[in-house]
Amino acid sequence: MARSSNRKLQFFVNGTRQDYNGDGDQPLLWHLRDQLRLTGTKFGCGTGLCGACTVHVEGKPARACVVNMGSLAGKRVTTVEGLAGKDALHPVQQAWREANVPQCGYCQAGQMMAAAALVAGNSAPDDAAIDEALRGNLCRCGTYARIRVAVKRAAELSRANSGKSTGRTS
Ligand code: FES
Ligand code: FES
Repeated sequence: MARSSNRKLQFFVNGTRQDYNGDGDQPLLWHLRDQLRLTGTKFGCGTGLCGACTVHVEGKPARACVVNMGSLAGKRVTTVEGLAGKDALHPVQQAWREANVPQCGYCQAGQMMAAAALVAGNSAPDDAAIDEALRGNLCRCGTYARIRVAVKRAAELSRANSGKSTGRTS
């Protein structure tokens, strides 16, 4: 017999439509990792407190461990695997590489997703804005100083890219 919370819905992951027919209470994180095999998004605390599982839902950062599948009908989810464009890294990825941010790497997908959402809405974040936006993304290796550098560099790259796309020269 079907569970009472069974849900049938469609949603989008990294631009691809997905049909879901299952437990509406299942966390998005399990679906991404176990069913879709998108394992870039990490499991840390499982209770919305560490940020390791950060993805975007409708362009906003969300903790995939506490987003239930039943809430996603028609929604657009982006994971770290969907961050890059077809031909180029996302500015955050490029900046992370330049600044050599990761240490063990476990928290970094979540950090980058939070940073990508920040630079999408703030073209020149200062330290306070960075700390506020990434406050809930914990790093046991203490890479916070390099993250700040990389977020500012990502914002700079984003500004340059948007200048190119609009034909502006400065
Ligand atoms: S695993 Fe989701 S916030 Fe920690
Ligand atoms: S790089 Fe190791 S937990 Fe952040």
